[in-house]
Amino acid sequence: LDNGLALTPTMGWLHWERFMCNIDCDKDPENCISERLYMQMADMMVKEGWREAGYEYVCIDDCWPSHQRDAQGRLQADPKRFPGGIKKLAEYIHSKGLKLGIYADVGKNTCAGYPGSLGHYETDAQTFADWNVDLLKFDGCFMDWTLLGEGYTNMSTALNQTGRSILYSCEWPLYEWPFKKPNYTAIRETCNHWRNYNDVDDSWSSIKSILDWTASHQDTIVPPAGPGGWNDPDMLVIGNFGLSHDQQESQMALWAIMAAPLLMSNDLRHICPRSKGLLQNRRIIEISQDPLGRQGFCTIKVDNFEVWERPLSHKRLAVAVLNRQETGGPRGLVIRAVPGWKICDPQCNVTQILPEYRELGVQPPKSKVVLSVNPSGTALVTLTPISSRFNMYELQKQ
Ligand code: GLA
Repeated sequence: LDNGLALTPTMGWLHWERFMCNIDCDKDPENCISERLYMQMADMMVKEGWREAGYEYVCIDDCWPSHQRDAQGRLQADPKRFPGGIKKLAEYIHSKGLKLGIYADVGKNTCAGYPGSLGHYETDAQTFADWNVDLLKFDGCFMDWTLLGEGYTNMSTALNQTGRSILYSCEWPLYEWPFKKPNYTAIRETCNHWRNYNDVDDSWSSIKSILDWTASHQDTIVPPAGPGGWNDPDMLVIGNFGLSHDQQESQMALWAIMAAPLLMSNDLRHICPRSKGLLQNRRIIEISQDPLGRQGFCTIKVDNFEVWERPLSHKRLAVAVLNRQETGGPRGLVIRAVPGWKICDPQCNVTQILPEYRELGVQPPKSKVVLSVNPSGTALVTLTPISSRFNMYELQKQ
């Protein structure tokens, strides 16, 4: 969507995977969906370096509203869990230098059964604008699939007509795929990012299924991605319970390669230093936010390794080597087997980012450097080509 937003993939925090539809604030005040939760996450984002690392949006998902619209037909936040209301919450979030995201649904109800926006697109867009909301995640439950395109397009127009800059996150293709191949040209013109596939959960099998779906549909979904419009493989679950550290590194590396929104769903009040360091790794974030804005893709599967590459600005290339063999120990792959090596003509500078930072220096095409990758882990490197002119100069110096 050409609204000046999401020129690089969105970064922030979204409550769903970690906090789901926990609305019991009597029994679980720490973790229930309430204004307090977002305020505390915002506090952590400032205090613990998340904002500085680039994470900007604090996003509400399902289960925030009251079951009834107000007398004017507007959505209202649950009064018990959001006593200050969304506008006040937005003010708080903005005072921290952050942005606020909210959630609604294109159909009759949200997926968890709260009021949907069908028949109220203009009212709801105006309400969100009046509240100074900065992002809308628009879900697709309880909607006739043949009306999805119309619904998502009308809401896009309604948001635009409020005059407020509101980033528009869609789930249009996810709900269309079971019935027809989505029109990605239309989706890109309408949304800033879009979900294609199932909800992520806190497990390695979920991450693998998302990667497999993405690789098998890449000819369709990679070309439309670029500044202003991105494929959304769903939240980062790093810092939770289900992934080993190697698997967390794989999610982080591959989400950067896929130019995916980096929306964490975790508890920033309780996160281990290793997961935090990974999520704030500036070299990986630099790949994610590369200004060229091209999504990477899977290039080869060989010997139970999967190689993914993403073209970066200045003719650089990011390459992720995922070890899909889940038995045994670390396995080595000689870097010249990587197809990206073709840009290393006559040679290039190799920097390893994961599993640890190493400058591998200038490597010739016949490099013997071996990347060692743990089971279900990923080695991430960047390749910077060195022009032949520069090489001549280097030779003369020697
Ligand atoms: C759907 C979406 C999820 C989440 C839930 C909320 O499943 O895909 O991301 O928003 O609804 O009910």
